[in-house]
Amino acid sequence: MENQEATSRFLRACHRQPVDATPIWLMRQAGRYMSEYRELRKSYGILEIIKNPELACEVTMQPIHAFDLDAAIIFADILPPLEGMGLSLEFVKGEGPLIHNPIRSAADVEALRTPQPEESLGFTLEAIKLARRELESRGVPLIGFSGAPFTLACYAIEGGSSRNYRYAKSLMMSEPALWHRMMAKFSVIVGRYLLAQARAGAQVLQIFDSWVGALSPDDYRQMAMPYTQQAISIAKQASVPIIHFGTNTNGMLELIRNAGGDVIGVDWRIDLDVAWGRLGPHVAIQGNLDPVALFASWSELTDRAGRILGLAGGRPGHIFNLGHGILPETPVDNVRRLVDFVHEYSSRQANNQTGEEYDR
Ligand code: CP3
Repeated sequence: MENQEATSRFLRACHRQPVDATPIWLMRQAGRYMSEYRELRKSYGILEIIKNPELACEVTMQPIHAFDLDAAIIFADILPPLEGMGLSLEFVKGEGPLIHNPIRSAADVEALRTPQPEESLGFTLEAIKLARRELESRGVPLIGFSGAPFTLACYAIEGGSSRNYRYAKSLMMSEPALWHRMMAKFSVIVGRYLLAQARAGAQVLQIFDSWVGALSPDDYRQMAMPYTQQAISIAKQASVPIIHFGTNTNGMLELIRNAGGDVIGVDWRIDLDVAWGRLGPHVAIQGNLDPVALFASWSELTDRAGRILGLAGGRPGHIFNLGHGILPETPVDNVRRLVDFVHEYSSRQANNQTGEEYDR
């Protein structure tokens, strides 16, 4: 493990150390765009895969076998922690996640349980142990993850995906004291879950705050940020790098950074150099190709990927990724070629650079 820590370009980039080539992994890299995954899904539901450590490990490895990726992410979802809290979760074919008993009242909030992750999410901790064993020989590090308290609470209140977050924001605006009591429970669930994943073997942790861009900066500061901070402070006991990812965060990038994380994930709605300038020199950055670019022609795709690498300028601490999850039906060939392109282009960049440019 010591050896892997020293040589993995993904782990080095998380620590803002120079690398031979820019590391790349793709959010949602295991999934429906891969025929291997679709094949397995003919026999099993997504929750069945997640709750079976052998299958979850197998799916985690699918993109690692297919592409030269620099990190694996454990196959799970952000929503299973809601089950342990007492919510009933189902993935409805063609529609996405559905919570049958969403949080709508004070009684619902008081009823939320906060079980230990070993009790309610043991299958993912087990899958992490299995995946680490398989990844060890390849020298590929493993990422564990959780939804952020705000994004999880939104799903729990809305009962599924939402356009305007009417129920979640109404609760937040009309009953702030109740909101804070609820969020305190989510921060404990998220913090302990992340910590347990690191203790099970995850070498990096990512927090997905996919819906946070729905908030005004002021609401974020008061109603969401303290709970992300709390979750991160619990997870930090494991001393592994933390990636903090959100979308639509241009109005509050500095706040996202202040909430914590060694690496900040940004989407394509901001230029990478502008984002990094605002974040400052003490964090690494992850991003930020528009996932739709993978459907474009090869020359268009390489123009866009090359532009992002140019904006990063070979500065230590860039992890190449999409600005949000990879889409179903993404052409697999483009994924393979993008991964190789990022490595080749950035290693040429590194060779052309003098040592001084790294002195920051
Ligand atoms: O990155 C990986 O490969 C690890 C696996 C992973 C999944 N979900 C598997 C999954 C990760 C990291 C997630 C995160 C997740 N899940 C997020 C945060 C990232 C984001 O995209 O914003 C969110 C919001 C969810 C909730 C979720 N899960 C939704 C809204 C849906 C339905 C919509 C969709 O994309 O299908 C899911 C289902 C889901 N989670 C699938 C996968 C591979 C597809 C389901 C299937 O196999 O039918």
